[in-house]
Amino acid sequence: MKPAPPVTTMLTAAKATDRSRASCSARSATATFLPHGSLRCGVPLSEHASATFLPRGSFRGGVPLSEHASATFLTVPRLFLSPPDVGARERARLLEAFDSNWIAPLGPDVDAFEQEFAAFVGAQAAAALSSGTAALHLALVLLGVGPGDDVLVPSLTFVASANAVVYVGARPVFLDSDRGTWNVDPGLVEEELAARSHAGREQPAAFIGVDLYGQCADWGPILASCAAYGVPVIEDAAEALGATYRGRPAGSFGALNVFSFNGNKIITTSGGGMLTADDPAVIERVRHLSTQARDPAPHYEHAEIGFNYRMSNLLAAVGRAQLEGLPAKVRRRREINARYRDAFAGVDGIGFMPDAATGRPTNWLTVVTVADPTAVRLHLESLDIEARPAWKPMHLQPLFADCQRRGGAVAEEIFRTGLCLPSGSVMTDADVDRVVAGVLQVVESA
Ligand SMILES: Cc1ncc(COP(=O)(O)O)c(C=O)c1O
Repeated sequence: MKPAPPVTTMLTAAKATDRSRASCSARSATATFLPHGSLRCGVPLSEHASATFLPRGSFRGGVPLSEHASATFLTVPRLFLSPPDVGARERARLLEAFDSNWIAPLGPDVDAFEQEFAAFVGAQAAAALSSGTAALHLALVLLGVGPGDDVLVPSLTFVASANAVVYVGARPVFLDSDRGTWNVDPGLVEEELAARSHAGREQPAAFIGVDLYGQCADWGPILASCAAYGVPVIEDAAEALGATYRGRPAGSFGALNVFSFNGNKIITTSGGGMLTADDPAVIERVRHLSTQARDPAPHYEHAEIGFNYRMSNLLAAVGRAQLEGLPAKVRRRREINARYRDAFAGVDGIGFMPDAATGRPTNWLTVVTVADPTAVRLHLESLDIEARPAWKPMHLQPLFADCQRRGGAVAEEIFRTGLCLPSGSVMTDADVDRVVAGVLQVVESA
């Protein structure tokens, strides 16, 4: 573990002077007095102080962490890509649920979270689950997708979208991205379905559309093509809660819609997911399948395979508090994106994931394009700033080397040039400026 440079060095390097110190280190200064698990700039204290990998009580730069907090040379806290943004509201709800003893594991907060969530995304019903991946898996089970089936999936996505297809024994077929949204190219959806129709081949058992990095896919033409060929649609809105497409919320376009509350998402339950649909009977079935498919009987009676995929009441309590704060979190992510755009406007060699005119993204992550994202990422890392490459396309993954695909060059180019910058709603303007300075140091010296 490399010792972090003293704050003076880092602030000079990042051109982020007093404003940064005022924003984060003011809170840092109280670090010694906070109990374990307390929050500082929205990141658990243990992570902040130790940059993820050090156990509590570790030394950094040869000084015990507790002394660091009160020493003259404070370290600037590590900037994470998208850390949880939780606070007093979440803590209160969690303790209320705990004190009520609704722990084992369902309870009133699960019911309330489902209702409040469904209302937010305009769905008739919602089932709270243990993860977005579980929601994807169950969506495919509900559609009866199984061995021998094909499922269309965008190549540029997180692996969970494609893994769920394999869980049910089906084969993903990967489609390239559109340059205007980075989401699946609607023209390729139509091309794939039309080609199958002309060749007399079976149509895919489902299409999984992903709303990438907080921006909706171009659902109009996609839904038209899928409807024309009778292909059911699953919307993977794991990254886009709070976004809109032509005025409609992300996660309202599929027959089944998937959300994630993983720790890096715009709202989190530490881990969790939601499946929504417009047919309450479908969601009743999700609840059945996700609780081991237990039939009503005094003993344990099972007529089909089930799963242990339900969300616990404690986590649902956190989710309810997070949902209340969602509009403010969306606003902040957009402000952060705008600050990056302003700072990089006119800088040769820096581009952005386009904001499509068809909707309003949440800018869950701000993704830039640069000639050498590795150089920028490593430099940011040296400044204790976390950045990540854009998703590596599924058709390039060893796991899916044998899968069919249509196109792929656009997704490859995004992977070659894309870099996700810290975008969490806990970031101060000074934090953004610190990232900007680090990026410019590399790009302007190239
Ligand atoms: C596009 C996409 N789909 C699915 C998932 C899976 O969600 P989870 O981590 O809650 O299983 C994620 C992220 O984690 C994601 O980014």
